[in-house]
Amino acid sequence: MRAEIKSHTILDKYTALIDISCRLNSEKNFEQLLKLIADEATKHLDAERATIFMLDKEKGELWAKVALGVSDTIRFDARLGVAGAVLIAGKTMIVEDAYKSPLFYPSIDSMTGFQTHNILSVPLRNPKQEVIGVFQVLNKRQGRFTSEDEHFIAALANQAAVALENSVALTELETRHQELIQENLHLRKEVEERFTSKSILGTSSKIEDIRSIIEKTAESAVSVLITGENGTGKELSARAIHYLSQRRTKPFIAVNCAALPETLVESELFGIEKGVATGVERRVGRIESANGGTLFLDEIGDLSPTAQAKLLRVLQEREVEWVGGRRPVPVDIRLIAATNKDLKEEIKQNRFRQDLFFRLNVIHLRMPALREIRSDVPLLATHFLRKYAKEVGRDVQAFSQNAVKTLMSYHWPGNIRELENEVKRAVVLTSGREIEVDDLSEAIAEEHLAVPETESGQKSGEKQTLKDRVTTLEIHMIRDAMAQTDSDRRRAAKMLGLSHQGLLNKLKRYGLDD
Ligand SMILES: Nc1ncnc2c1ncn2[C@@H]1O[C@H](COP(=O)(O)OP(=O)(O)OP(=O)(O)O)[C@@H](O)[C@H]1O
Ligand SMILES: [Mg+2]
Repeated sequence: MRAEIKSHTILDKYTALIDISCRLNSEKNFEQLLKLIADEATKHLDAERATIFMLDKEKGELWAKVALGVSDTIRFDARLGVAGAVLIAGKTMIVEDAYKSPLFYPSIDSMTGFQTHNILSVPLRNPKQEVIGVFQVLNKRQGRFTSEDEHFIAALANQAAVALENSVALTELETRHQELIQENLHLRKEVEERFTSKSILGTSSKIEDIRSIIEKTAESAVSVLITGENGTGKELSARAIHYLSQRRTKPFIAVNCAALPETLVESELFGIEKGVATGVERRVGRIESANGGTLFLDEIGDLSPTAQAKLLRVLQEREVEWVGGRRPVPVDIRLIAATNKDLKEEIKQNRFRQDLFFRLNVIHLRMPALREIRSDVPLLATHFLRKYAKEVGRDVQAFSQNAVKTLMSYHWPGNIRELENEVKRAVVLTSGREIEVDDLSEAIAEEHLAVPETESGQKSGEKQTLKDRVTTLEIHMIRDAMAQTDSDRRRAAKMLGLSHQGLLNKLKRYGLDD
């Protein structure tokens, strides 16, 4: 053995280093790396043991996982011992007689059950020259550690530091990757559960019908047109159709046509090739992103005429033409469109293509306004109450009877979304476990005081005069008409059977003209 080691020339050592370096590069497992480095160091320096101390910056500790034959982890304050001194100084150190050195920290020996005599200790630096640990070789069998040993171990330490850091980074990446896979599976399941037909609550016949149509059409790939006022659950229904269909594992892409500026709508929907105009980057269109899945075009009534023509082509030819593209790309999408406009009226006004309308309107879902399904108000309100009480961590359990009546008699121009927001607000504001009329917005509480007999059969405002009640009814109907027409006064007047001026007068009289 001795003779063999003595015969090692410097050249031999450097050949060995190159060999070790190759093996370090191909070993990704942290523990295997530690073992490989320690084994090589003891072998080439003819020592009894090698230990790699890694620095835990956050805790200010040094820890070692494996020294030859030691499998437990040891940890100690990073300022202690020869290792600590090397770490602080950032320089190599040789200690001849460990137990006589003031730097020596004998507790490590008692932790490992090893008897240290002499030590060669070098800092481990990463390529950024940050010290990430300390590399120690213990008990040279014959004589002292030489400067040749020192150079060898310094060179090995450089290689080791890179390999160890890469291995830690790789393990972190792998852990994160596994976590993301799990998270993704979990979220997917949650989304699928959240958007089934069961997520559409309500026991009124109008809602039952909606659920039944959704269930029946989900499996086929026919286009669906969903109409209804704001906040009636158009998007919720579109998602339910998607997540009930075979396409559920493919994307559901929602595009709000009203939110796209005229200049961007085509590139956004159909895709644009690089360099169509100066500085334009290549961009895949939303239609293509939905390939295999469902494209939900919200506010389709706002689509420009050119985009309407291009969309029609997509539906007829099942392919999409990029802006500036050379040849069309085949796509397989299911289209669900939604609007709160009256598309037939838009067709008459030449603002919407009739042929596109026929393509979209294979199945029509008309979402009822909340005031058409008042009997569902308590169920929906309770659902939102539970949801938000849990979300904000408040122990709110129910609505008072009067609060329920008030909610049922309001005309809800913003429909279910407005109800949802109202309940959310009340959950935050209420001081008790029950939501009272006082916790509701003023407009809602006031309206209740004067509303005549409602669909649900409740009476209110018994002590009011006929004139008061007529006035309230008028306010109620005017607000409704304004909500339904997006405050288009001419259309609202038409709906109410009033002249334009007549409506303006009433708006002014009731202070509704802002
Ligand atoms: N039947 C229902 N059961 C439970 N929640 C509902 C129901 N309908 C709608 N919601 C909820 O009401 C809110 C509004 O629904 P959604 O966004 O689908 O309406 P929308 O018709 O697309 O509205 P907008 O026209 O304003 O875009 C959502 O939070 C949705 O979850
Ligand atoms: Mg919507």
